[in-house]
Amino acid sequence: MKLLLLGKGGQVGWELQRSLAPLGELVALDFDSTELHADFSQPERLAETVRVVRPDMIVNAAAHTAVDKAESEPELARKLNATSPGVVAQAAAEIGALMVHYSTDYVFDGSGSRPWREADATGPLSVYGRTKLEGERLVAEHCPRHLIFRTSWVYAARGGNFAKTMLRLAKERDRLTVIDDQFGAPTGAELLADVTAHAIRATLADGGKTGLFHLVAGGETSWHGYARFVIEEALKAGVDLKASPDTVDAVPTSAFPTPATRPHNSRLDTSKLQTTFGLVLPPWQAGVARMLRETL
Ligand SMILES: NC(=O)c1ccc[n+]([C@@H]2O[C@H](COP(=O)([O-])OP(=O)(O)OC[C@H]3O[C@@H](n4cnc5c(N)ncnc54)[C@H](OP(=O)(O)O)[C@@H]3O)[C@@H](O)[C@H]2O)c1
Repeated sequence: MKLLLLGKGGQVGWELQRSLAPLGELVALDFDSTELHADFSQPERLAETVRVVRPDMIVNAAAHTAVDKAESEPELARKLNATSPGVVAQAAAEIGALMVHYSTDYVFDGSGSRPWREADATGPLSVYGRTKLEGERLVAEHCPRHLIFRTSWVYAARGGNFAKTMLRLAKERDRLTVIDDQFGAPTGAELLADVTAHAIRATLADGGKTGLFHLVAGGETSWHGYARFVIEEALKAGVDLKASPDTVDAVPTSAFPTPATRPHNSRLDTSKLQTTFGLVLPPWQAGVARMLRETL
């Protein structure tokens, strides 16, 4: 079994290098890889890489994830999030490979409070959301043997993340101000990578287990609830902070204007994934607490 991983250096890509390794021979590339072309800003050269590697499956973790920056560079965001995944999917279909791809809660308009199901109508509010939606459609259209996972609020132990920013601010200031009207589930890159490996094995055993799935950790919170939890955990671990959970002030999204509009309701219903693959998705607090213990 041969696997091609694209975007190996990102939050999810890094964890996929670990979780995919036991499945077979892994060729992992990033946009600056030298021997083989894997730069998504040049879609026309990606098909050649797929033909040279000839993998049994392709996992694409590369993307333009800078949500605000995408508003001012829509053409680049479209190349990375839509055109290139489409080219890779077409090349995957030509050699009969399975294609795994990631998408986002930002394909929805964030209305209501019910967790979104896979078949619900989309309505992206930003360039990022629109280009990711186009990407998932191109992957599905070009490569019928696909797994597309929509996820949200991704964090990883490696690199910067929201929790680490909150901890830094809580060390510097007595009070923090955090948005409390956007709801979702913080989801660890580790969990995404582990579920991906599990789903790939299940799909290889039962070819019918393909399609679009929502994949997030269990439960829900707001950014405000997330920040409070991080501070509570840090205090429990004995970290010296100026702020406390009670000095995290809740504010509406309008208090922090950004170029891109974010959805208020980012809740994703994961029952299809859990039923299809026989998996239980742990509560978001478990993964965040673990990441904090690793990084504190
Ligand atoms: N992060 C989130 O909160 C979130 C939420 C929902 C869905 N998702 C989706 O989950 C997937 C993984 O996201 P992530 O959090 O792991 O994102 P990430 O950490 O930003 O990783 C994206 C990867 O793409 C690479 N990349 C950038 N420009 C590229 C180019 N021209 N060609 C090839 N690769 C390029 C990045 O390289 P550099 O780091 O060197 O730029 C990075 O390795 C994406 O599909 C994303 O849309 C993420």
